[in-house]
Amino acid sequence: MSEPFYRLAYFSRNMVVGPFEMQDAEVQRILAASRRNNTVAEVTGALLFNGRCFAQILEGPLDAVETTFERIQRDQRHSDITVLELTPVTLRSFATWSMAFAGKPEETRMSFNALNEASVERTGAAAQLFELLHGLVLREEGAA
Ligand SMILES: Cc1cc2nc3c(=O)[nH]c(=O)nc-3n(C[C@H](O)[C@H](O)[C@H](O)COP(=O)(O)O)c2cc1C
Repeated sequence: MSEPFYRLAYFSRNMVVGPFEMQDAEVQRILAASRRNNTVAEVTGALLFNGRCFAQILEGPLDAVETTFERIQRDQRHSDITVLELTPVTLRSFATWSMAFAGKPEETRMSFNALNEASVERTGAAAQLFELLHGLVLREEGAA
């Protein structure tokens, strides 16, 4: 029997200060490290950034997700990390992405506002974040 997959969803507050170009460069560094490490660790997922907050979904074997998340939690480029869910799943939803990215400012900001309003209830927020990221990733990155 194959190992079960887990999905972890969280959001956090951006601590990278400076003009848009500098923040963008830092996010590109995060994505490069994520893609390098996650490929080796068999972790897939998606990252959302809107200048104020990050939201991320990590999926893969539990060990790999936990090890990756422990490293992410120590990262000083964000703070106030709030876990929305850690749940077993039968299939990966971002199977072809070591770390997909949704960061087009306008769309992401609007979507995030909707998420904030819905985040009172955690389970609902996790489902909503998942739907939001999945939709944005398919739109922004295409089905490549
Ligand atoms: C919001 C955010 C998301 C991140 N996501 C990942 C990730 O999915 N995988 C990963 O390896 N590192 C991720 N990182 C970076 C890690 O915190 C850490 O800097 C990196 O794993 C170190 O990799 P290196 O030792 O190969 O340079 C993330 C950092 C931030 C701030």
